[in-house]
Parts: sequence; structure tokens; C-alpha cells
Amino acid sequence: MKVLVIGGAGYIGSHVALSLMDAGHQVAAFDNLSSGLRQNIFPGERLIEGDIMDPVSLKSALSEGWDAAIHMAAFKAAGESMLDPGKYARNNISGTVNILNALTEAEVKMLVFSSSAAVYGEPRYLPIDEKHPTEPENFYGFTKLEIERILAWYDKLKGLKFAALRYFNAAGYDVQGRARGLERNPANLLPVIMEAAAGKRAEVQVFGTDYDTTDGTGVRDYVHVNDLANAHVLALEYLGREGKSLTVNLGSEEGLSVLQILECARRISGKSIPARMVARRPGDPAKLVASSAYAKQVLGWQARHSDVETLVQTSWKAYS
Ligand code: WQD
Repeated sequence: MKVLVIGGAGYIGSHVALSLMDAGHQVAAFDNLSSGLRQNIFPGERLIEGDIMDPVSLKSALSEGWDAAIHMAAFKAAGESMLDPGKYARNNISGTVNILNALTEAEVKMLVFSSSAAVYGEPRYLPIDEKHPTEPENFYGFTKLEIERILAWYDKLKGLKFAALRYFNAAGYDVQGRARGLERNPANLLPVIMEAAAGKRAEVQVFGTDYDTTDGTGVRDYVHVNDLANAHVLALEYLGREGKSLTVNLGSEEGLSVLQILECARRISGKSIPARMVARRPGDPAKLVASSAYAKQVLGWQARHSDVETLVQTSWKAYS
């Protein structure tokens, strides 16, 4: 297939492009390089520089006869979305509407969309399956949920078939070491730990040690970015084969605490990685773990690289 990866020069997008090319697809990345990197474009892949807020550049890129698109161009900092909702409404929601209209006009009928576990909000039960109530706690999660709803209407009214992939905590780097582009100003746990290990920041702050978890620190479902990327290939195959839309969780089904990751990172890097225990970060639930039973059932997908060793080892290889 000929696939346009919108946001393809970003951290997850670059891994998705690699997986698509590994599976024999022809790939171009559409990216404005606001957080994406030129370094994340690989041999055999084309970069089309453009912005989802500019319908003209979208229209021109989409006029090239694509079989499918993957949309991962979004702002993703939950905390920032609460301070600047307009930025998130514009880019994430209006930007997606621009993409959907351009896809419709170009008669591209398949779209894989990067959604998020943030659509669920505070967990009512664990593990979280797709039937869990969707009550986002932050505006970022709201934008993802709103887009899922808009997608359902474009399916009904325009015949656009979509796969909304609700990622849990994406982490790690390509197991073959091909993707090395580091995120700028990361706020997520693993890159923060890696920057501290590499001497780029003084310490790691551990947000909360009094949660109701085994060691008191927050527990998350970290899913390796190669596993996530592979799910996009399977989702495209599903859309082509089944001709119907899909909303599905992608998680490892394993919970890891902040301290478990920190200890593993100290061992693998051989660095002391100074850590300071501080207060909880507002809005952080104690524990989030996915059920990925549905992904296994419909896509034949399961996480294969999402153990703590591989998550940390592949990250350290990129950061060291
Ligand atoms: C993980 C754990 C923190 C940083 C966010 C978004 C979510 C999704 C994934 C995109 C928590 C702790 C973190 C640090 C720490 N994004 N932590 N010190 O908050 O689970 O999810 O990214 O879809 O929408 O909200 O990820 O990596 O920030 O935190 O102690 O410096 O690490 O408290 O327990 P989070 P995270």
C-alpha cells in the first residue's frame, strides 16, 4: 500500500514508518517539523513538509493517490492542555477536521488514528477494556475522544473506515537501533530518566510515593514503540480486509512502577541516576493497566518487546 504518515517525523511516527516499510509498504511522512525531526526520515521514505492547519498543503499532499493515511500529528502534553486548551482544540480537533476533509476530497478511505488511554480518565476498574466509561480528566484526552466521535460520523456519512488506537504509555526505541531521534523537552518518565542517566539533567523527580501500589509510586502500562508501530500495520490490514472501523486499546497488560523503571535504568546504564521524591503530580491516577484482549482478538496483536529490560535497554542505546 501507499501510506501517508501525518506526523511521521515524530517519535512514534518514525517507528510506524519503519514498521510499514519493513512490511513492504511505500511511505511518505507529512510533517511540519515542529516537534518532528528530519533525522526521523529513513532511506526510502519521503518527507513532505506541511502543516495540518494549512488545508492547501494537505490537499496537495493528499492528491497523490494514497491508499491510506495514518494520523499522529497532535500535541500530547496533558498538563499543557489544561493551561492552553485553545492550542489543543485548534491543532488536535480543527487540524483533524482539516485532514478528514482532505481525505474525503481525495477519496482516501482508510485512516489509522492515534488515540490515547487518556480518553478513559480516572480508572473505575482494572484492567481497562474498551467498554470502560470515557470521562477524560484532561483537555488533551477530551480532544482525542472528540476526534473519535467525529471519525464515527465521517464513517457513517462519507464511508471513511478508521482504526482508533488507544495507546497506553508509549516507550522504548527501535530494537534494531534504527531510530535515534530524541524528543525535545520530554516530560514522560522514561526519557526523563534517560536524560538524567546521560547527564543532560540533574535528577529525576519521583511524583508521589504514597500511592496505593506495591512500592507507593505510580504504576503504568508501558508499551514498546515497536509493538505500537506493528499494531498500525495490522490495523491497516484489518481495514483493508474487513472494511469496517475499529476502536482498540494497545497496552502491554503489565503494570510497572516508577521505582521499578528507575532501578532497571540504574542497572542497565551503570549510572547512579539521582532521584528526588516529591509530591504527587495533580491529576495522576495511582495505576493504569490495559486489557489488550480485544487487540489480540481482532488484530492478532500482542506486545512482544514491552518488558522493562527491553524498554530501558533500547532507550539507553538511543540516549547513550
Ligand atoms: C508516568 C509515571 C508519573 C515523570 C502521559 C499522558 C497520557 C499519554 C502518555 C499520550 C506517572 C511518573 C513522570 C517524572 C515521575 N500521552 N513520573 N517523574 O502521565 O502516565 O501519561 O503520557 O497519549 O495522556 O498523560 O505518563 O510518563 O508522564 O508518567 O515520577 O518526571 O511516571 O507520575 O506515574 P502519564 P508519564
